[in-house]
Amino acid sequence: MNYLLGIDVGTSGTKTVLFDTAGGVMSSATYEYTMQQPQNGWAEQNPEDWWKAVRLGVVQVLRDSGIHASDIRGIGISGQMHSLVMLDENNRVLRPAILWCDGRTTAECDEIHQRVGKERLIELTANPALTGFTAGKILWVRKHEPEIYEKCRHILLPKDYIRLMLTGEYATEVSDASGMGLLDIPHRCWSDEVLEKLDIDKNLLAKVYESPDVTGRVTAQAAAETGLAEGTIVVGGAGDNAAAAVGTGVVVDGRAFATIGTSGVVFAHTDKLSIDPKGRVHTFCCAVPGAWHVMGVTLAAGASLQWFRNQLCQDLMKEADRRGIDPYILMTDMAEKVPIGSERLLFLPYLMGERTPHLDADCRGAFIGLSAIHTRAEMIRSVMEGVTFSLKDCMEILREMGVTSEQIVACGGGGSSPMWRQMLADVLGCGVSTVASREGPALGVALLAGVGAGLYESVPAACEAVIRTSVPQMPNTQDAARYGQFYTLYQGLYPALRDSYAALAKL
Ligand code: XUL
Repeated sequence: MNYLLGIDVGTSGTKTVLFDTAGGVMSSATYEYTMQQPQNGWAEQNPEDWWKAVRLGVVQVLRDSGIHASDIRGIGISGQMHSLVMLDENNRVLRPAILWCDGRTTAECDEIHQRVGKERLIELTANPALTGFTAGKILWVRKHEPEIYEKCRHILLPKDYIRLMLTGEYATEVSDASGMGLLDIPHRCWSDEVLEKLDIDKNLLAKVYESPDVTGRVTAQAAAETGLAEGTIVVGGAGDNAAAAVGTGVVVDGRAFATIGTSGVVFAHTDKLSIDPKGRVHTFCCAVPGAWHVMGVTLAAGASLQWFRNQLCQDLMKEADRRGIDPYILMTDMAEKVPIGSERLLFLPYLMGERTPHLDADCRGAFIGLSAIHTRAEMIRSVMEGVTFSLKDCMEILREMGVTSEQIVACGGGGSSPMWRQMLADVLGCGVSTVASREGPALGVALLAGVGAGLYESVPAACEAVIRTSVPQMPNTQDAARYGQFYTLYQGLYPALRDSYAALAKL
């Protein structure tokens, strides 16, 4: 038998899934870790925690499935994008990884625009310098921790650090490398011009592959640590969003998905390079060789509800634990009983600043309209509505660019809730389906591994063979109109608060 392994190094944990070639899950394991926030707006993780989670996950899926490691034809890796991993000459981690949702690099992004020229940067990398992207983080370490920068010999993204541990290779692939702010996106290679102007040595960066390419093989040491078979191929894989696109079949023109994971994303495939001149959405290479995607990103989607759960729903977490169910089920049950608009309560989901559409690292979350009548139930619904409005902000820009579709696939933890999917349909104004598999990015990279191993002819052929979507939930006209009234108010809130956010950040 042939099997494929998909590993997704997420922000809340690493998911390791063993699939058969029809996409059936043989075994799955998730190991969680924490995120450190040493200052307001900063976010860090220890790369060694990711590797530990991968090792434990692989050992568990092999044990639980009883499958022989030698029957695994290929491994695909996916992960949180943009996060900076710095290693010394002995591959030792020099400092905690600075994550995608860390907003400390506003000054460095200004410096990048000055050195390269904002228009030229967008021409070359298809995007402006954003605080989440890796380039600004590299400049930040060089400025604030010169002794660390001095020792740095390798710069990697999270999944590429895992690749190094598995194969000993310093490699990346186009979809994840796109989010570093250093890749020539039209030509799918490092931009010598940007690297020169930023004075970053190209030797620090990994070799760039297309996503289904074989980048290396499992070493004897990694085999001993994980139980994998030495020599198993590891393909390029993809950043988590490009991987989710493969896992939801969004690999040809006219297809799009929305994810509510830690971050929220609206993502559309495009065979033709398309760039937002205002830089509000990202244009990146996708996992299909020779194609791109455009996506809008809201930084705290599931993270907003997770924050609310952790701070204000400890009792529900205990009850869910006792009943053996997910606490989010109890929370969404409460929200479902509240009318649209949460009794006139609006939530801005900017807990980690915001990318699409505001590109503002200083803005923060807010409940607007809080009244003594409100209970936790209204607040939960309001958080869900705020996140969905933020996804609509993303969708509107993609519509402006002409790169979206009449129907989207919902994925991520939030996308698995029928209630949240209906809210998405009503607010975004399109049909919302879901896929039979819940494994999103892990399935996506397992399919890429299958392409690399020669089990499928191409990425679209792999999706055609494996991905099944449900009948879409359609918008309800009356509900859509009611949400529309609240969305209009929501849109006015950020401009009204922008100056206060900037002043607050300076205190
Ligand atoms: C995408 C982004 C997030 C992370 C989450 O640009 O920053 O979606 O990839 O893991």
